[in-house]
Amino acid sequence: MSNPNPSSPIRIAPSILAANFSRLGQEVTDAIEAGADWVHLDVMDGHFVPNITFGPDVVKSLRPLTDAVFDCHLMISPADTYLEAFAKAGADIITVHAEAGAHLHRSLQAVRALGKKAGVAINPATPESAIEYVLDSVDLILVMTVNPGFGGQKYVEATTEKIRRVRRMIGDRPIDLEVDGGITAETIAVPAGAGANVFVAGSAVYKGAGLADYRANIEALRQAAEATRR
Ligand code: DX5
Ligand code: ZN
Repeated sequence: MSNPNPSSPIRIAPSILAANFSRLGQEVTDAIEAGADWVHLDVMDGHFVPNITFGPDVVKSLRPLTDAVFDCHLMISPADTYLEAFAKAGADIITVHAEAGAHLHRSLQAVRALGKKAGVAINPATPESAIEYVLDSVDLILVMTVNPGFGGQKYVEATTEKIRRVRRMIGDRPIDLEVDGGITAETIAVPAGAGANVFVAGSAVYKGAGLADYRANIEALRQAAEATRR
């Protein structure tokens, strides 16, 4: 398999959803120490998705621990009301769901006006046409490879073709193509071969006893993704 856009660097973004929340700070610094590129922060509201996680105060409390990119995935509706709070809390990338509000373009403009990188996420059932007219307003596209809400789910195969189409839509724009859900050392080659370059992984990173295991887990993901580019 060859990647249609080998110039965009591979990034591994552990999702802290699978971390031990009783020692969250250590889990974040361990993941970075273990070789992670970004920290993926899953914000859920119990309304847009059937689960509740954390809000801006948790992001703010983690911020002093690392300079790594904070990749905030907002699974909340409405999102607009909270964009400023996440920006102030220290998010670097703020991703809103295309399904979460009626005015996606406005939400993305608002993120950029706050000085942050703007991401748009689409659920497995949402076609890539939903983001066709916001391509010049985004820095990242997140193609969900499971239905959002929970970690540890199985990669939805039907999303692979969509990843390929989104990579084609991106063309030579400087947009990262991220995938999230069911990404493991066994599955990562499929979205990587289809053109994704940022890989969120929760359970595949935070399994085992700590730093040494996390390092091996991240390395296995990275190698399997990079193998698709050779
Ligand atoms: C799901 C979240 C994911 C989740 C991924 O709604 O957006 O980031 O943590 O978990 P795994 O990697 O275990 O599928
Ligand atoms: Zn996520």
